Amino acid sequence: MKKSLLGTAVILSLVAISCNKSDSLLVQRQKNLADNDYKFSSMMDTRVQNFQTKLPDYLVTMGLGQSNIDNEKASVGRVIFYDKNLSKDGEISCASCHIQNKAFADGWDFSPGVDGHVTSRNSMALTNVASFASHYTEIEGRTPALLWDGRADDIFGQAPLAFTNPHEMGLTLTELHKKAKIQSYYSYFMERIYGDSDVSQERFLECLQEFVRAMGGASSKLDRALDKVNGDLFGQYAETVPVYALRDSIVDYYYGTITITVKDSVGIDTLLRPLLNFSESELRGRTLFAQNCTKCHSPIRPLQKEFFACNGLETNYSDPGLGGVTGLQSDMGVFKSPSLRNIAVTAPYMHDGRFRDLGEVLDFYSTGIQAHPNLHPLLLDEEGNPRRMNFSFQDKIDLIAFLRTMTSYDILHDARFSNPFY
Ligand code: HEC
Ligand code: HEC
Repeated sequence: MKKSLLGTAVILSLVAISCNKSDSLLVQRQKNLADNDYKFSSMMDTRVQNFQTKLPDYLVTMGLGQSNIDNEKASVGRVIFYDKNLSKDGEISCASCHIQNKAFADGWDFSPGVDGHVTSRNSMALTNVASFASHYTEIEGRTPALLWDGRADDIFGQAPLAFTNPHEMGLTLTELHKKAKIQSYYSYFMERIYGDSDVSQERFLECLQEFVRAMGGASSKLDRALDKVNGDLFGQYAETVPVYALRDSIVDYYYGTITITVKDSVGIDTLLRPLLNFSESELRGRTLFAQNCTKCHSPIRPLQKEFFACNGLETNYSDPGLGGVTGLQSDMGVFKSPSLRNIAVTAPYMHDGRFRDLGEVLDFYSTGIQAHPNLHPLLLDEEGNPRRMNFSFQDKIDLIAFLRTMTSYDILHDARFSNPFY
């Protein structure tokens, strides 16, 4: 022990002797960073958090990529997301309209932005996907777009729109740059990540994007049940089962089209209950959801067939949706069809927040779909009329019970995604 301590001392003094000018600059830089960290840590949580979250295995089996998050950048992105200084009137941040315990939606039909303006659309939940980064990637040649009308491909495209929208944060990009520079903590953060203190727009958006990419929720009751089949169905043989067979089983199990027997610990065959811990009502809801909804709203991204559709809210839309972006007649009334993870906590619903609760949504799908020329074929009957799903009272209760199994409670309270400012 003594010997090794002595050894360390010798090495340290050798290092000290060999210290040249650039080393002392390095030491100075470390000291500056430490001083700054001390200074700003009284204002906010400046720590670098670990933002890596493991997707459940069954989602990886189904083809969702596990993505890598840059923890340094995401930790600073969190500060940007919650920073009201980055708006015209100093009152609004991203988090004003994207509130954590509402899965980052906000509870309004239209959200209050700067100077008393309100947004023209309903705020969107950001954790309606298992993982933002994994969801918004190319799978089988397709990548879903962002916003109700699909006009952004990623946060790089979307965030500048939020900062500059006169109804949201109300800045020009030059003003944003100025505001960011005034807040001296950003120079410190940039130094910490990039090695110099330049607060460029590019770096700023990179950090914000990394934080949003880290968002998601895949710890719901439904996830736990589906992950069980991934692990338990083939037990020790899982390694030898081809991926397509594993996928088929997960899909069948999700749709409820197979019954599975497994050997329990004492070797007796037992019927694997359809979806672990699901009540009868939740199971009936699952079946109704699989029959009527899942092609447009799958909690399993590779199973979702449509990312944009007209669901017939109106015969004549005042908001053209995708049509306003492409100018195509066939895109009028077409809107993003979001995944419904965490849907139970993100009311009100639709692009204009017209439905106050899930009961109203189901009343609409049951008997209220309108005959719009662009109405999606999945919502037409054989005669080409709007479908009448005619859900009974019990059907609606069952569907809502199922929709509730898609809530990931962890993300609603996860400290890594909370307001870092004290
Ligand atoms: C004043 C309220 C408001 C503020 C502030 C705001 N948003 Fe939004 N957000 C919305 C609304 C409304 C939509 C839907 C807009 C649309 O479709 O035109 C939206 C949509 C989004 C989406 C698209 C989600 C999806 O599934 O397609 C993302 C991502 C997003 N916001 C992130 C942010 C970030 C990051 C910030 C801060 C830079 C921010 N928002 C600031 C209200 C707001
Ligand atoms: C053809 C595709 C399609 C089918 C089938 C479909 N939907 Fe939708 N759904 C959409 C679209 C598109 C939107 C957004 C519409 C808008 O805001 O204009 C939407 C919106 C919703 C929303 C609101 C989402 C939010 O974040 O505000 C809920 C809830 C919903 N659908 C539930 C269901 C249920 C339950 C079913 C089955 C009974 C179903 N949907 C069937 C396409 C579909």
